[in-house]
Order: sequence, then C-alpha cells, then structure tokens
Amino acid sequence: MTTNTTEATPIEATTGGPTLPQERRLVTAIPGPKSQELQARKTAAVAGGVGTTLPVYITAAGGGVLVDVDGNSLIDLGSGIAVTTVGNSAPRVVQAVQDQVAAFTHTCFMVTPYAGYVEVAEALNRITPGDHEKRTALFNSGSEAVENAVKIARKYTGKTGVVVFDHAYHGRTNLTMAMTAKNMPYKDGFGPFASDVYRAPLSYPFRDDQMDGAAAAARAIDQIDKQVGAQNLAAIVIEPIQGEGGFIVPADGFLRALTEWCTANNVVFVADEVQTGFARTGAMFAVEHDDVVPDLIVTAKGIAGGLPLSAVTGRAEIMDSAHVGGLGGTYGGNPLACAAALAVLETIEADGLVDRAAKIGALMTQRLLDLQERDGRIGDVRGRGAMIAVELVRAGTTEPDADLTKRVAAAAHERGVVVLTCGTYGNVLRFLPPLSISDALLTDACDVLDEVFEVTK
Ligand SMILES: Cc1ncc(COP(=O)(O)O)c(C=O)c1O
Repeated sequence: MTTNTTEATPIEATTGGPTLPQERRLVTAIPGPKSQELQARKTAAVAGGVGTTLPVYITAAGGGVLVDVDGNSLIDLGSGIAVTTVGNSAPRVVQAVQDQVAAFTHTCFMVTPYAGYVEVAEALNRITPGDHEKRTALFNSGSEAVENAVKIARKYTGKTGVVVFDHAYHGRTNLTMAMTAKNMPYKDGFGPFASDVYRAPLSYPFRDDQMDGAAAAARAIDQIDKQVGAQNLAAIVIEPIQGEGGFIVPADGFLRALTEWCTANNVVFVADEVQTGFARTGAMFAVEHDDVVPDLIVTAKGIAGGLPLSAVTGRAEIMDSAHVGGLGGTYGGNPLACAAALAVLETIEADGLVDRAAKIGALMTQRLLDLQERDGRIGDVRGRGAMIAVELVRAGTTEPDADLTKRVAAAAHERGVVVLTCGTYGNVLRFLPPLSISDALLTDACDVLDEVFEVTK
C-alpha cells in the first residue's frame, strides 16, 4: 500500500478554509487513536441509529481536504454529502456568517422579519430555471422542503396523490420516508408511512437496456394513468439525477416528457434538486441539462455552505396558493443561514464554479473511464459535472457487487480519500468533491482509486 504516511509532525490545524495545506497526508492509521477514542465516546453517548461512514473526527476543513484530530489530512470527495460545494469555511461564507452572528442570530422571520430572507428569495427566484414570476419559501432541511413542496402542490391543485420514482430518495421524515424507495436503512420498522404516494418506473439506462427517454417516460406515464389517474394527482416529484439511489442520469427526453404530461394534466412537476443544485452538475441546476423548467424546485445542501437551509421556489400562482400562516417554521430561513446562502451564491458566480464543476467532471470521468477499460468490474461510469459515480458489478454481467463496493470504499478511506457509496443495490461509489478542490488533489485521489481497484482484485 502506498500512502503519504510520514513520521512528520501532525498538521496543527486550528482554522479551516482554503489556507489549509492542500495535501493528502497520513500520520496515523485511519482512524487514528484520537478518533478511535472519540468514536468510543460516540458509541456510549449517541443514539445507535445515527451511523458514521468513516469515523475520523474532523477539526478543520477547506479547499479539498479534511483534517482530523490525529493530524491526518484527507482528500474530500464527499463534501459532507454534496453540501460544501463552495468549499468548507469558504472565505465569503465565513465573513458573512461572522458579521451576521455579531448583529443578531434569530428573530423568527414569521414574527419580525429581516432582509436576508427576502434577498435569498429574490436570488433563488432569479437563478432558478424559467422567466415566469416566482416566489420562494425557506426551510431547514431537504426533507422539510420536499414536504412543503407537496403541501403546496396539494393546496394548489386540490388533489392529493404524489408520484415518485424507483430508487428515489427524498428524506427521512414521515412523508419523505414514504417517498423514498429503499427500505434499509431509511424506512425499516419506521412505518406506517403517509398515504397517497405512488411509485413509477424510472429511466435507468444501465439497467433498462438503454431504453430511450421517450419510451421510459411513456412507460411511467402509462403506469401513472392506470394506477393513479391524473385527476387524483397533485404532483410528480423527481430528482433530475438520482442521488442516494445511485447517481442515475435518466435518458435524454425522459424529464421533458414528464413535464409536458404534467402541464397537460394540471399536475405540479417538482424537481428535487437537494443534491444536484448549485453548480454541482456543471449547471446551476441539473434540470438545465434537460432544458426542463419545473413548476417547483426544491433546494438545500449546497445552498448555504453547510449552514442548515432549504427552499421551495416556483411559479407564483402555485406558491401563493397556500394561505397566510400555512407555511413556515421557527427556524426556516434563519439569518445566519441566509447570510451564508448569499455568500455561497456570490462565490459560485464570482469564482466561476459552474465551469469548475464541469472541468472536475471531465478530469475525473476520463480517469474513471480509463480505469473501466482495465477493470470489467466497473459496469458504468456516469454523472454530470462534479457528481460522478461508478456502478460496480461482477465482471461481464450487470449483477451488482455491493461487497466489492464496500471493500473499495474502505481501501480508499485507509489511504486518506473520503468516498461515499450509494445505490439501491449498495454497489455505487460516488464522488462529490468540493468545487474548491485543486487538480493536483483530484489527480492524487484518482491515483488512489486506481490503486484500490488493483488491490481489491
Ligand atoms: C435528493 C434529496 N432529497 C432530499 C434529501 C433530504 O435532505 P435532508 O437530509 O437535508 O433532509 C436528500 C438528502 O440526501 C436528497 O439527496
């Protein structure tokens, strides 16, 4: 195993951000002794249901690295699950939050409002697809925003049915558990779930013989017509690229055909861009790749650089259909999170991060395609921009190989590269680097991936 393990003194990282040394550097085994100690405390103190992918305890992060309590510097290919898109402790975010925390921390927008909330709403209305009149409401988490999109669609249409798709992930609250496809670990034993949620087949080119988008949409619409009926359906909710379900990019034309059907049938088309939004895919929003304008778009994660914030943005007549007082929550659109979001949007625009995501995607995809040529266990390389994945199978088949995926992820972790897995079959290795990562770190991470695929043969 080749690592950058050295005897040198651990990095004394007291602050995060892009000034941290941008290097992979291991000074202990992963996890190191201090992390192990904290993990033992975690086991004794934290509910067992809250898992950790890689129990290294972080003290600082920025650029493309995470620094742990033992002084190891790891390459971050996860961005805290697609959250720190502009980088951890990005300078504009730090400044904006520091200024805001010194001014006031909370008043509750529903009681005595403040400008930051309005400015975030204005910005989202401006940057989300479509030039129609829009409104925005802010919340705390992706799940909460998805729930609110459904509430709004029901109120607007006077209908109750909700269609979601195979492999979908929309969250862990009661309604969003019903909308999420996978039982383990998200739903098992947590029912009963909300009713009037129906599942339709997705376009999954690797697993449906490359069925074209129009045919896949026709299959889904036929099922929706027969099993639900447009007259009962308030909304179709879909991730333009599925996240937890396996970074599944639907075939061209799939999303567009669904939106056209929604428009013709008074069904609200909701794009769940919680994971794909804010430059991640090489466009500000992933639906732009498909030339689709959703009625409502749900955002979270990358919106505020790590502060909890989410939003529903959409057509004014739909958003305004909810009665006064019908939407909100104590913390929704918290001033710190709003200040962070404005700084994130400024950073994306000023630093050209949409283009940067596309470049990261090109670099990593080429490396992964090269690897696929040498390794038949990589069934598919897919994604857009800096949302990239490989689906692992038994060589020469499409049979999922979850065990290999676990072993590859563990070997990457041991070498100081933080990767995540996903997929209904647990056989997808996904990459979500912060857009502040350097080419040098990305190349190093790809070299590590080459090595771990070799050692797991
Ligand atoms: C597409 C999508 N929707 C909704 C959610 C739920 O967001 P949160 O975890 O903030 O509730 C996620 C989280 O991973 C997601 O990826």
